[in-house]
Amino acid sequence: MNIVLMGLPGAGKGTQAEKIVDQYGIPHISTGDMFRAAIKEGTELGMKAKSFMDNGDLVPDEVTIGIVRERLSKEDCDKGFLLDGFPRTVAQAEALENILSDLNKNIDYVINIDVEKDILLERLTGRRICKSCGATYHLVFNPPSQEGVCDRCGGELYQRADDNAETVQNRLDVNIKQTQPLLSFYEEKGYLRNINGQQDIDVVSAEIDKLLGGLS
Ligand code: AP5
Repeated sequence: MNIVLMGLPGAGKGTQAEKIVDQYGIPHISTGDMFRAAIKEGTELGMKAKSFMDNGDLVPDEVTIGIVRERLSKEDCDKGFLLDGFPRTVAQAEALENILSDLNKNIDYVINIDVEKDILLERLTGRRICKSCGATYHLVFNPPSQEGVCDRCGGELYQRADDNAETVQNRLDVNIKQTQPLLSFYEEKGYLRNINGQQDIDVVSAEIDKLLGGLS
């Protein structure tokens, strides 16, 4: 099962990805997570990505495409994969077609989680993430049982560096501009499935599950 999960920042890609990869046993490939890990480790990739991420801009295509090619070539992707946050530009989508063709694979579904901008602003500034296991919470919409503590592993919760109001505004503007041509690209190919992301987390999950049920 080869899935591309699309959606503006805060649409719920990470939240839904966790559930999909658990259920279908496929690797979760998030370019944002890969960049954050590289920044933490202080690698050359991390140094290249940091200033773009801090401003809420996109990391240049040539950097991003390279890491996705490398990741998709790994053996664990033979059983399928979930791409989260890639592609984000038409150039990345075209590169993905080439990568998959080289690897003799194709895309089964492109799922776009659709949410209005005003709601996204509130979701991103209220998001908290577990330092240990990466589980995602929201102060209002999906709070942990105990403030600041992860329900799943007891780890400490933190706020992402790019979730402050100013950076969030730019992230949304940058991504909105790139998203429409990307949606048209996949719509023309007949892959695109839109899901209303303004429903409860479990309702969104159930709709995605129903969609993917046809594939399992
Ligand atoms: P990335 O890490 O991919 O961030 P993003 O796209 O901005 O998306 P987010 O992770 O912020 O949101 P999400 O959709 O996963 O939402 P979540 O589930 O957490 O990218 C970060 C940066 O890396 C980019 O800005 C860019 O610089 C760079 N980058 C990454 N990929 C790139 C690429 N391909 N090309 C170039 N640069 C790239 O949910 C958000 C909050 O809402 C949570 O608190 C959650 O609990 C809550 N929530 C989720 N669903 C619901 C719901 N249904 N109802 C109520 N609350 C909900």
